[in-house]
Amino acid sequence: MKIISVVGTRPNFVKIASLVKEFSKHPDITNILVHTGQHYDEKMSDSFFRELEIPEPDINLGIGSGSHAEQTGRIMIEFEKVLLNEKPDLVLVVGDVNSTLACALTSVKLGIKVAHIEAGLRSFDREMPEEINRILTDQISDYLFTTEKDAEKNLLNEGIAKSKIFFVGNLMIDTLLIHKERASNLKKPDSNDYAILTLHRPSNVDDKETLSNILEIIREIQSQIKIIWPMHPRTRNNLERFNLKEKLKEMKNVSISDPLTYLEFMNAVMNSKFVLTDSGGIQEETTVLNIPCITLRDNTERPVTIEQGTNYLAGSNKNSILEIIQKVLNGKAKQYRGIKFWDGKAAERIVSVIKNEKAN
Ligand code: UD1
Repeated sequence: MKIISVVGTRPNFVKIASLVKEFSKHPDITNILVHTGQHYDEKMSDSFFRELEIPEPDINLGIGSGSHAEQTGRIMIEFEKVLLNEKPDLVLVVGDVNSTLACALTSVKLGIKVAHIEAGLRSFDREMPEEINRILTDQISDYLFTTEKDAEKNLLNEGIAKSKIFFVGNLMIDTLLIHKERASNLKKPDSNDYAILTLHRPSNVDDKETLSNILEIIREIQSQIKIIWPMHPRTRNNLERFNLKEKLKEMKNVSISDPLTYLEFMNAVMNSKFVLTDSGGIQEETTVLNIPCITLRDNTERPVTIEQGTNYLAGSNKNSILEIIQKVLNGKAKQYRGIKFWDGKAAERIVSVIKNEKAN
C-alpha cells in the first residue's frame, strides 16, 4: 500500500512523528513523506525533524509564506504534480493548516482517497482560518480520525456518515509520551518560578489594538511572575510593524527568545508554574503534563482539555485572566483526570484501521 503523508507546519511535524515511526514497522506500507514547506526556518521545521527522528521528507514542495490564496494555490499546483507522478492509494493529512486543506482538495479532485487526522474539532468560529480548513477538509475526506469524543458529534451534525469516523486518540500525545523522558532529562532551568507564553493567532496578533491590549495584560502578569516568551515569527513581525517593541522592552521580567525546539519547549513547560497560550496543540500537551494552561482565546476546538484537563478558557479580559492566575499560584489549579485514548497508541490504531479498510 502506497501512502503519501503530508506535513507543512510545526504542529504537523509533531503529529506525524509517531505515525511515521509506526509505519516503519509495517513492510507492506510504503510511506512517502511530503513537506509543503509552509514552515521552513531551522527553528520552525528542521529542528523538529532532527529531535523527533522524523526521516528527511522524500519531497519538499518549498512553498514558503504568502497570503492564504497564494499559499493554498501554490501547494495545490505543486502537490498535484506529485500525485500524478506517485499515484498513491491514500493521502494522509493532519490538523487544520493551509497545507492540510490544499493537499486534501488536490487529492479528492484526482479521485485519490484522503484520511484526515484530528478530524471533527470545531471552535464554531468561522473567522479562524483553521476552522474553515477543518470544516472543508472533513467534508471531502474518506477516513476521519478523531482525537476526542465531541469530534464525532460535530461530524455527525455536519452530515458525515458514521462509517467514515474512527475514534483513535491523539498522535500529538503519542509523540509527547515517546519523548517526555528525553525532554525532562534536559538541563532544568535554575528556578521554576516562571510562566511560559506563546502567541501567534491572527485574531490576537494581527490587529494593533488587540496586540497592545495583550501587552498591557502581560505587563501586569510579569509584575507577579517571570514570563518566558519564545516568539513566533508572525508575532515578531507584527510587533515590529506596529511599533510595539519598545513597550515590550520596558518589561524587565519578560524574557523573549526565538522559537524553542520541541524538547526545549517541553522541558520549559514541565518546569513552569503555568502556560499562557493561544495555541491549539499546547492545550493538549499541558493537559497531559498536568501543567495549568490559560488559553488566551474566547473559544476552543478542544473542549475535552477544559472538561478533563488543566485548561482554562480565559479570553482577553485582564481581570478574569489575573483571577485564574491567582488561583493557579495558590495551588488550586485543575488536575488532569485522564482522557480516553490519549495513551500513546493512536498511531497503532490508525494503521490498523487503514489496513482493515484496505482489506475490505
Ligand atoms: C500556521 C497555521 C496555524 C498554526 C501555525 C503553527 C494556517 C492558516 N495557519 O500559522 O494554524 O497554528 O502555523 O505555527 O495554516 N514565518 C517565518 N518562518 C517560517 C514560517 C513562517 O518567518 O518558517 C513567518 C512568515 O512571515 C509568515 C508568517 O510567519 O508569513 C506566518 O506563517 P504561516 O505559515 O502563514 O502562518 P502561521 O501563523 O505560522
